[in-house]
Amino acid sequence: AFEIKTLLSGTGLVTIDPGFGNTAACRSDITYIDGAAGILRYRGYPIEELAQQATFLEVCHLLLRGELPKPGQLDAFAAELTAQSALPEGFERVIDAFPSGTHPMITLAAAVNALAAFHTENADPTDDDQVERATIALLAQLPAIAARIHRTSAGLEPVATDSSLAYVENFLNMTFGKTEGEKGPDPLLAKAMDLLLTLHADHELNCSTSTVRVVGSSGATVFASVAAGINALSGPLHGGANQAVLEMLEQIQNTEGGIDTFIEQVKDRESKTRLMGFGHRVYKNFDPRSREIKKLAQEILNQPGANDPLFDLALQLEERALSDSYFVDRKLYPNVDFYTGVIYRALGFSTEMFTVLFALGRLPGWLAHWHELRKDPDTRIARPRQLYTGPAQRSVAARDNA
Ligand code: ACO
Repeated sequence: AFEIKTLLSGTGLVTIDPGFGNTAACRSDITYIDGAAGILRYRGYPIEELAQQATFLEVCHLLLRGELPKPGQLDAFAAELTAQSALPEGFERVIDAFPSGTHPMITLAAAVNALAAFHTENADPTDDDQVERATIALLAQLPAIAARIHRTSAGLEPVATDSSLAYVENFLNMTFGKTEGEKGPDPLLAKAMDLLLTLHADHELNCSTSTVRVVGSSGATVFASVAAGINALSGPLHGGANQAVLEMLEQIQNTEGGIDTFIEQVKDRESKTRLMGFGHRVYKNFDPRSREIKKLAQEILNQPGANDPLFDLALQLEERALSDSYFVDRKLYPNVDFYTGVIYRALGFSTEMFTVLFALGRLPGWLAHWHELRKDPDTRIARPRQLYTGPAQRSVAARDNA
């Protein structure tokens, strides 16, 4: 547990709260989490119900506009996105400009930042209409950006957006292309992708969403704020953990001693090794998203011919960790990132693309928070205080005697 110290600074009372574990930075109507009970709700709807009974696009509508859409509203929302789903003319050059081997998250953050230069007519964050158009443009165009990053880094020709396909199907089609004679991507693949995006769509003030809010609080554009969120997401303690989990599983697979040796290494505090995909700042019992994702992994990987030894290894690793007092005592359980990688791998994504997929799912949450911040009368520029621990005043002239 963190110690919260209070002290009298020059200007009043200051609390020290490393990692903001006990600091509420705002009031929010978007997402409710009860970490002890493993409850997650978007605007009041339990994540388990949304996972079973809503699509990602409906969840985007829920997060951004406050309600699940009525049938006519959904069609209108989908049409708004389809109308803007192609990348602006000339924008491809931005994505293709990076050296081969560039990590997709670097390209993604740079591309979203650069998107502002192609939407200058919608860049004024104080104008409601412009903000609305910029929001739709981001939601509509991030799939095309992600798909192009995938194809460029794999040395493949781009696939254009197809306005006859739904949001998630269109993304998969732009990523993997159509198979001869088929209308669109495999329905099971599309269902899996849709569910994963839904489960990632918001998670209150996590590191990337807080970043979006901090940047937005300065009056920066939605493009600049979301680009900052993407950079925050890239770290291995946050969204980058989905890539790190897969790399950890491969490392365990190739190490003599396998799981037992790895667990001992994690427990050796000197090694600084973490069991990636385990632990959460808020969930101290279980992560409800992880349960849904594990079920999905079983559904996908138990199909004939789809078995992946890394999934079997992940199951064994979870069982081993949950019977070890190190993890039990610290209340460390699988988080959203533990089983996603093996599913993304089964769908055909490279390991380096995993965090880009997380960003695609989290985008509506970032946007919803940015809008909420903009309308909140309590919003002030984010500007934490510090407790200074450096030298007291000294003199440059006296430095030789120091
Ligand atoms: N493996 C081993 N030990 C761990 C792990 C882990 N994955 N997570 C936490 N611990 C230990 C810490 O070493 C600490 O032990 P101590 O009390 O003996 O010093 C204790 O558990 C508490 O951990 P903190 O680091 O204080 O927890 P915090 O809330 O700051 O961090 C975090 C949460 C970053 C998620 C952490 O659990 C972690 O690093 N997990 C692995 C990375 C990961 O999976 N990140 C994805 C999180 S979900 C998301 O962002 C989408």
